[in-house]
Amino acid sequence: PIKAFLFDLDGVIVDTAIYHYQAWKRLANELGFDISEEFNEQLKGVSRTDSLDLILAHGNLTLPDEEKAQLATQKNEWYLELVSRMSSDDILPGVAQFFSQVRKANLQTALGSVSKNAPLILERIGMIDVFDAIIDGNKISKGKPDPEVFTKGAAELGVQPDECVVFEDAVAGVEAGKRGGMFVVGLGSPDVLAQADLVAPSLQDLTVDEVLAKSGR
Ligand code: BG6
Ligand code: MG
Repeated sequence: PIKAFLFDLDGVIVDTAIYHYQAWKRLANELGFDISEEFNEQLKGVSRTDSLDLILAHGNLTLPDEEKAQLATQKNEWYLELVSRMSSDDILPGVAQFFSQVRKANLQTALGSVSKNAPLILERIGMIDVFDAIIDGNKISKGKPDPEVFTKGAAELGVQPDECVVFEDAVAGVEAGKRGGMFVVGLGSPDVLAQADLVAPSLQDLTVDEVLAKSGR
């Protein structure tokens, strides 16, 4: 049976995905090129350093490590400016309702985000005490699509991968959950998240009972 739900943060709980995109776009523009929303799909769920590598390759740029570190820091400063004004008003529609159903169903919860800013964001939106386990970018060595962030979450909760459902908005995150042996719910477009076991536009469009039934576990 399913015992735990593992949630990505950016784009699932809160709409920070747009702020990551805006900050990366600003950085690309300063470097003399642009990144489209379509290209940005590849960046979702990917770590800060891996994202920068993808962006530089997209702009045909090769830079020394020191300069790359500066650029990553610059992007993060812009990102932090954008998120500094966030509050519980920024929690995505349907999240509060879905979590109350999760509690009633006696399921465990973990956050599985590769963001090093995840604890800060959870504080800002008042959700730091909601999860039974928090795995973020500071606790892992491999970002999505590697399954580490989710397998660590399952381990910390004391459950098996096939007892977990993963909720993800990113192609890399869906792949991470699948590689981890979990049932994966994609939140977004079925074209983009074709690898997921179930796809819905957002948590607002799902109930816990429906997810449990569709998981068939
Ligand atoms: C993921 C986002 O949650 O975290 C990515 O989807 C982001 O866009 C990654 O690059 C790393 O985030 P941070 O906050 O550590 O730069
Ligand atoms: Mg995400």
